[in-house]
Amino acid sequence: MGSPDNYKVEYSINPWMDADVEVDLNLAKEQWANLKQAIESAGAEVKVITSNKAQPDLVFTANSGIIYGKNVLISNFKFQERQGEEEIFQNWYKDNGFDVGRIPSEYKFEGRGDAFVYHKYLIGTYGIRSDKEALEFIANEFGLRPLVNKLVDEKFYHLDTCFQLLPTDNNDAIYYPKAFEDSSLSNWADLFNLIPVSQDDAEMLTCNAVVIGNTVIFPSGEISIIEKVRDLGCNVIQVDVSEFIKAGGACQCLVISLD
Ligand code: ARG
Repeated sequence: MGSPDNYKVEYSINPWMDADVEVDLNLAKEQWANLKQAIESAGAEVKVITSNKAQPDLVFTANSGIIYGKNVLISNFKFQERQGEEEIFQNWYKDNGFDVGRIPSEYKFEGRGDAFVYHKYLIGTYGIRSDKEALEFIANEFGLRPLVNKLVDEKFYHLDTCFQLLPTDNNDAIYYPKAFEDSSLSNWADLFNLIPVSQDDAEMLTCNAVVIGNTVIFPSGEISIIEKVRDLGCNVIQVDVSEFIKAGGACQCLVISLD
């Protein structure tokens, strides 16, 4: 996770962000601490990267890169506002024992935001923040098969805003169909049991949930899919991350899994 100490909304690079809206920093810090506590209670250890005054979105560590074993490929952020984070994340990974690589700079890529490794597949999305070529490059580097889809709704600008795999034996995954060009996700249908969420749920960033063991940590709100996720056997909790939703990120955006 990234320290929230310098978090703010001072530019707008997605439809959720309004540079005129005030962030309550004390509340943000409290919410971030609650999320960290929930993650630790679910059984994970949390490492924290120091914040940086010039990079308010550094708190969204999901966007740092993509990890495969002890290898990491660092993101190439689409917007100049976040490009300064690349070196900071790169140094952190080096200092923490990772083998750090880069993607050709002409290919934009935003890390766990737009891709994750699933068995021998690279599951990824392109079209808003990341380029298809970046996903192909990563799959090739890691020896994985790319299985990608195109995002088409600016509000759901990363894969992790509209898709999350659940910790069930049945490979259940929740997703918001309208975020994808192929709303049936036909090339993922053999891998996952796809469970659509409503527009109301999607707009609360429901799919931006953190999974730790059998626990699924959702953002707060009246989320209708939660009952179903409980019925599937998951331990569900909710953490209010309203101050971070002002930047277009909820629980999963604030985290990257290191193993
Ligand atoms: N303000 C950040 C951006 O627009 C939020 C990133 C959210 N992260 C995520 N993994 N969806 O880049």
